[in-house]
Amino acid sequence: MDVRDQIREWWDDDADAYDVSPGHSLSDPVEAAAWRAALLSLLPPAPARVLDVGAGTGSISLLAAEMGHVVTALDLSKGMLERAERKASERGLVIDFVVGPAEEPPLGSFDVVMARHLVWTLPAPAEALTAWRRAVRDDGRLVLFEGSWAGEGPWARAKDAIASSAERLMGVRNDHHAPYPCGVVDRLPLQGASSPAPFVEAVRSAGWSRIRLVRLRDVEWSIERRAPWPLGRLRRRPRYAIVAES
Ligand SMILES: C[S@@+](CC[C@H](N)C(=O)[O-])C[C@H]1O[C@@H](n2cnc3c(N)ncnc32)[C@H](O)[C@@H]1O
Repeated sequence: MDVRDQIREWWDDDADAYDVSPGHSLSDPVEAAAWRAALLSLLPPAPARVLDVGAGTGSISLLAAEMGHVVTALDLSKGMLERAERKASERGLVIDFVVGPAEEPPLGSFDVVMARHLVWTLPAPAEALTAWRRAVRDDGRLVLFEGSWAGEGPWARAKDAIASSAERLMGVRNDHHAPYPCGVVDRLPLQGASSPAPFVEAVRSAGWSRIRLVRLRDVEWSIERRAPWPLGRLRRRPRYAIVAES
């Protein structure tokens, strides 16, 4: 089976469980507020035409639509998008849902392409980032939300090991989903990043310009405060937005 089909199948299977994590569904009002602030400062003024790639169960599509943007939500997984569609209809939000690969975005002169936690899982990130330049208007914007998921610095692994032991002792369930099957992870050049450098380089090599990096400290803080001490501190990952122009 082709790696993209394996990834689609994996997310279709995960769709029912994905929103159990407050960080995925943004069900925690403080974290949702931190993301709302990030979108307000990084997206163009509403109403902008926004393409959310790898929209999943729609967390940031919904926030953007609530702010008055005209949102198209694209995802490879029908299962994930069905959850997003249900939530949009419960909230009375109109969003255009498209099932398809990130590498083949719908044609349209979007003002902005955004993607949260998608680029790490692309087998060919440069191909997708190049295609997104063609999906935006001449001075269109890119807003990527990513993180150094492997942690940064020499103590990252030790902190994870301590956190895992502490979770067992404290009886805290880790609600993050299971890892990808063997064979998929090896095909993803940006998974396990331990700095923003590879994401910035992928954006640069796809021809985007005026690249800037914005650390999402309020998002990190909102996540850290939710977990019992010291788990939030130990599991904290640098999160950032990479913003660029076409
Ligand atoms: C970690 S989830 C992020 C979902 C959502 N953006 C969020 O922030 O909650 C990754 C999403 O990317 C989607 N995805 C993975 N590979 C894709 C691809 N090649 N094209 C489009 N979507 C893809 C998955 O189906 C999944 O919904």
